[in-house]
Amino acid sequence: MRFHLPTRIIFQSGVLSRAGSVLEQEIGKGRTFLVTDKGVQAAGITDNLLAQLPDVAVFNEIEQNPRHSTVDRAGEIVREMQPELILGLGGGSVLDAAKAIALLGTNPGKIEDYEGRKQYRFAPLPVVAIPTTCGTGSEVTWVAVITHSDRRFKMSIKGPEMYPALALVDPDVLLTLPPRLVAATGMDALVHAVEAFTVKPATPITDTLAEESMRLIFASLEPAYQDIQGNRTAREGIMLGSLVAGMSFGNSDVGAVHCLSESVGALFDIPHGIANAVLLPFVMEFNLPAAAPKYARIARLLRI
Ligand SMILES: [Fe+2]
Repeated sequence: MRFHLPTRIIFQSGVLSRAGSVLEQEIGKGRTFLVTDKGVQAAGITDNLLAQLPDVAVFNEIEQNPRHSTVDRAGEIVREMQPELILGLGGGSVLDAAKAIALLGTNPGKIEDYEGRKQYRFAPLPVVAIPTTCGTGSEVTWVAVITHSDRRFKMSIKGPEMYPALALVDPDVLLTLPPRLVAATGMDALVHAVEAFTVKPATPITDTLAEESMRLIFASLEPAYQDIQGNRTAREGIMLGSLVAGMSFGNSDVGAVHCLSESVGALFDIPHGIANAVLLPFVMEFNLPAAAPKYARIARLLRI
């Protein structure tokens, strides 16, 4: 059994309001390339961060299901700018793109050249991942999923040096997350936990994390959806559930729900969490003959 997670994790409500000093302490000073999207910027989260960072360039063009051409374009800028740090601020699309851009910062060519496991020669630039949704888990995994829009295919680009150096997780970023995104990304987190728990590479360590994650998500997703601003316990619960689910599937795996939803997402540009939520019951039914003992443990855990 093996468990590998080199990412430092800071989980605290309000920690982003002192992100500048935390980054200086944890990573050091230096030129920063900030990867984000227009939705995060419109919510004001980027401004808060920019006010605290002295030397930063912003790239805000990441789209849902991030495209190879966007990552390549940002990679060119990074090679020119030569920053010391890539800062990803956003949902899974942004964090995955930030990891891929960090790879292009130290390696030649285009991102499609690096499809697969450790196809790069040089370690990527260090990445700090700041999730702004409660679903991705990308802040604690080694993989970047990038859509090749010509091939209509989602490429997995991964390697042991692709873990973010630091995950800065602040549940208060969810204060401005619309309820439909709380639901969609929260369901993604739940699917991460269910799949990490039921796929073949699961271990007692990843099971422990998956169980705690499912407990947190079941207790907090509905109240978080109903009142993300007023219910701090639910806000912190769903954010922690998402993080811990990422720690679990990062060392176990995801399964058929993710395989199908990544294919469907690449073909029709469907939000990842929604595709997962629609597919989960069908995959559970299909897997029942093989996974019944694990499903029974989930049912007991959730008092069903
Ligand atoms: Fe996912």
